[in-house]
Amino acid sequence: MQYRPFGRTGIQLSTLGYGTWPFARDWWGRYDEQEAHRALRAAFALGVNFVDTAAAYDDGRVEALLGRVLRAKGVATRVSVATKIPPLIRDVAPDRLHAQDAYPGRYLRLAVEKSLRMLRLERVFLLQLHAWAPRWLREGNWLETLLELRAEGSIGFLGVSVADGEPDSAREVVQSGHVDAVQVRYNLYWQEAASNLFPLCEKTGVAVIVRSPLLEGALGAGPTWLQRLGTADWRRDFFGGAYSHGLQRFHGALKTLCQSGRHQRAALALRFAAAHPAVSSVLVGMRTTTHVRLNARALTKPPLTIGMLRQLHHLG
Ligand SMILES: NC(=O)c1ccc[n+]([C@@H]2O[C@H](COP(=O)([O-])OP(=O)(O)OC[C@H]3O[C@@H](n4cnc5c(N)ncnc54)[C@H](OP(=O)(O)O)[C@@H]3O)[C@@H](O)[C@H]2O)c1
Repeated sequence: MQYRPFGRTGIQLSTLGYGTWPFARDWWGRYDEQEAHRALRAAFALGVNFVDTAAAYDDGRVEALLGRVLRAKGVATRVSVATKIPPLIRDVAPDRLHAQDAYPGRYLRLAVEKSLRMLRLERVFLLQLHAWAPRWLREGNWLETLLELRAEGSIGFLGVSVADGEPDSAREVVQSGHVDAVQVRYNLYWQEAASNLFPLCEKTGVAVIVRSPLLEGALGAGPTWLQRLGTADWRRDFFGGAYSHGLQRFHGALKTLCQSGRHQRAALALRFAAAHPAVSSVLVGMRTTTHVRLNARALTKPPLTIGMLRQLHHLG
């Protein structure tokens, strides 16, 4: 396993981070709980020391699943857990909400206490706001509350998770010095975070946590992938609809560039996501031990050449 500095914090995290969203049955459908335990344990045994979850995933059940695995002797001391708290009001766009309506301090405190109970932890390594609107930098008491929780020892570091397609919405908060990390989507298909946000994070020492490096699985997919997804899997509609044509063209271009099977393409996608020097950890959603092993292997391969990276940047 390879490790990298977590921004300016002085902490080293595994380049492969464990993403747990695919265990959220309300979005991804059913999964095998025993295999989930095995996959998480296999990842931690292979040296993965960073895992990301959220209070909203299956209404806390994914935090609870992770908590059961963390209970095994010694695991919780080796693994850094990041979680996220959703806004109190979820059906209004963040930028239309006052910070005090999205993240009132009392709500945040109760939500952190609940996450700690679910995770069976006394302290969460990284607490992220699951949604972010730039206006909140100047509003509400969320920051005071999070700083209090940090002083009390319930939280290690603070972060925000940036909305898909809006990496620049985090620029001001990164510059403010109030957060230690940003979580943002970045992959071969969606490369927008590399334009402005990554250089700014490098300059300020704010850690970048990359999410969705496999384009939700599409980058490691075979030709019948979409048809084989379960009926309750959100990706069926998402990739079957507006994205299907763009994605087909993209896959064609990727296959021309890399004449290899889907496992090699997934490995290439992960190495691409990890290649930017601003990136601290690449979160990959993994429901099986096989994926854990493949992805761990992919991220210990040598860095991609500059020539290859240049070609891959043109795909985005
Ligand atoms: N708003 C937010 O804060 C937010 C949003 C999205 C994600 N995240 C975080 O980022 C993590 C990563 O993103 P993600 O899980 O959405 O997307 P992802 O990592 O791009 O894709 C995950 C899916 O890729 C497939 N996969 C994994 N390894 C593979 C391999 N070696 N070969 C082929 N397919 C493979 C699996 O699909 P199957 O399970 O179908 O096999 C898996 O569920 C999440 O789990 C979550 O922790 C946060």
